[in-house]
Amino acid sequence: MNTGRLEQVQQFIRYFVSAVSSTSLYSPGHRHVLRQCDEAFASLLGTFAKRDEIILMVIENELIFDTVPLDRSMYISRFIQFFVTKGIEHLKISRTVEVAELRLLIEALAGQGQDLSEVRTMRHISLKRLARQEEFCNQGGSEESGLSLEEIAVRERGVFREIQDSIGKNETFCMDGVEEIVFSCILAFRKEPVLFPYLSPLLALDTYTFTHSTNVCALNLSQAMMLGIQGRLLHDIGIAGFLHDIGKLFVPREILAKPEALSEAEREIVSRHPIQGAHYLLETPGVPKLAVVCAFEHHMRYDGAGYPVPAGTWQQNVCSQMTAISDFFDALRTKRAYRGPVSHDKVAALLADGAGTRFNPELTRSFLGIMKQYRAADASSSVPQESSSNRNHLASEQHCAAGAVLA
Ligand SMILES: [Fe+2]
Ligand SMILES: [Fe+2]
Repeated sequence: MNTGRLEQVQQFIRYFVSAVSSTSLYSPGHRHVLRQCDEAFASLLGTFAKRDEIILMVIENELIFDTVPLDRSMYISRFIQFFVTKGIEHLKISRTVEVAELRLLIEALAGQGQDLSEVRTMRHISLKRLARQEEFCNQGGSEESGLSLEEIAVRERGVFREIQDSIGKNETFCMDGVEEIVFSCILAFRKEPVLFPYLSPLLALDTYTFTHSTNVCALNLSQAMMLGIQGRLLHDIGIAGFLHDIGKLFVPREILAKPEALSEAEREIVSRHPIQGAHYLLETPGVPKLAVVCAFEHHMRYDGAGYPVPAGTWQQNVCSQMTAISDFFDALRTKRAYRGPVSHDKVAALLADGAGTRFNPELTRSFLGIMKQYRAADASSSVPQESSSNRNHLASEQHCAAGAVLA
C-alpha cells in the first residue's frame, strides 16, 4: 500500500477521534463538533483513492487497514478503545457515504450504552462483530439482539440495491449485508422458540415489506431448526435461502413483472436463472458452497424432474429440497397482482399432494408439522379466505411449464 494512502487514513482517524471526543463533551449540534465532523468527512473521502470502500478491523488490539496493521499512536489507541467498548471489530464505509451517516456513527460511538441500531440501518456504513458472530455460529447462542423486523426490511432493500449495482458493473458483491440479515433471523428464532415469529409478516405484507428472499431464508431456518440443525450448517442453509433466486437479477425486469402468461421464449429466459445465479455466486467471495448448489438446484424436483435437467445420477441436496418447499409456500402465500394469498389449508393440501414427487416426503411432513403448530399458535388471528378467482389462477400457476413463474 502506498504511504500517501496510509497517511490519509491516519489523518482521518485523528479527525474522527477528535470528533467523537468532542461529541461526548458538547452536544452533537455544537459548531465545534460539526466542524470536526466535516473535517473527518473530508479526510475520509481522501482515503478511498480509487477504491469503492474502506475496511478497518480491530484484531487482537491492533487496528488493521487493508490487511496492514497501523502504527500505534494516541489516536489509534483511542479509536480501538471506542470500537472495543461498543463490541465492534469490523467497520466498512462505502465511497458513497454521506456526511450525515458519518455524524451518526460519531454520535453513536460518543454515546453511552451499546445501542447501535440506527447505525446498523445505514446504507453506506456497516459494523460487524466478527468474533461473536463466529462464536454464535459455532455454539448456537449469544446475547446479541440483531436487527429488528423493520431494520431487516430496510437492510434487505439496501442489499439488493448493492447486488443489482454490482451485477450492472460486472462485479461481485460484499456478503456483509446478507450475513447480517441471516444472523438477525437466527437470533430472532432463538429468542422466540415458539415458532415462526418471522412468518407473521407473510400475512401482513402491507405492514412489513418483506420480500421473497427474507421469507425463504426464514422458512429455511425454521425447517432446519425443526430438524435440530445448528451452527455453521444452519447459517449456510439460511444464506442459501436468501440467495436462491439471485439469478433473477439477470432476467429483464419487464419479463419478471409481466402480469400475463409468458411466451415460450420468455419462459426459456426465466428458466436460466438457476444457472446464472449459481455462476454468479460461485465467483463471489464468502458465499457458502451450499448456497451455490441451492441456487442451481432449487427448481429441481425430488422425483428427478424440474430444471435445469439433472444428469442421470444427480442427487438433489437436502438444502435445495428444503428451499423448494419454502419457495413454493412463499410463492403461494404472497399476494400477486391477479390474486390474494392462497389459504393455509390449500397450500398444505398442495404440499401434501407433492410429497414424494415434487418434494422430499420427510421434509414435507416436517414442514406441514410446522404449519400446523403455527396455525394452533395463531388461532386467534383471521386467515384470509381464498376467492374463486384465486382458485382459477392457482390452477394455471400449478400447470405452467416447470413452475417457472411461480418462484
Ligand atoms: Fe427460482
Ligand atoms: Fe424463489
